[in-house]
Amino acid sequence: MTALADLAKEVSGCGQCALAQGRTKAVPGEGPENAVIMFIGEGPGFHEDRQGKPFVGAAGQFLNELLQSIGLQRTDVYITNVVKCRPPGNRDPQPAEIEACRAFLDRQVALIGPQVIVTLGRYSMARAFPGEKISAIHGKPRKVGDIVYVPMFHPAAALHQPSLRKTVEEDFARLPKILADLGQVEEAAVAPDEPQQLSLF
Ligand code: URA
Repeated sequence: MTALADLAKEVSGCGQCALAQGRTKAVPGEGPENAVIMFIGEGPGFHEDRQGKPFVGAAGQFLNELLQSIGLQRTDVYITNVVKCRPPGNRDPQPAEIEACRAFLDRQVALIGPQVIVTLGRYSMARAFPGEKISAIHGKPRKVGDIVYVPMFHPAAALHQPSLRKTVEEDFARLPKILADLGQVEEAAVAPDEPQQLSLF
């Protein structure tokens, strides 16, 4: 069993926060173990909780379309969430729940070693850019340590607010160039506690 599969097993048996009590299935994440891009959402919803897979409901359908729009398939990318168990009624994850799950996400990032992390929504954005506003920084790549982060609005937000849909589509459309330029941004690295915007464009 690989280290990532071991981790998924640990997640499935985890009881470190109250979300464990309400879950049908934990949702560790899925995708290739050496994915170049990782997407981090918020937390499982109803369908994800039933199936044990991330982004399989309406937001997931939209995410699939966004990936296809730039020539990617789900199987090309690793997809996971900040919290691995469904918050009741799809409420926002609470700080203690995010904290309880933090080590799982840190280990996933370390094991997969993605070059790009796309954060979907406020909670995964806050991991890399605490205190910043998604409306100000969405779609703008920044290198933190060895990883280029691209903060984006959550696909579910775009489903609820039609005006955001175009924004999300445009932010996705920038990903191919971000990927193509990865090799040219090596010296732009900044200390993890000092994120800066890259001059990729
Ligand atoms: N929304 C998320 O943030 N994650 C999922 O897995 C599904 C919906």
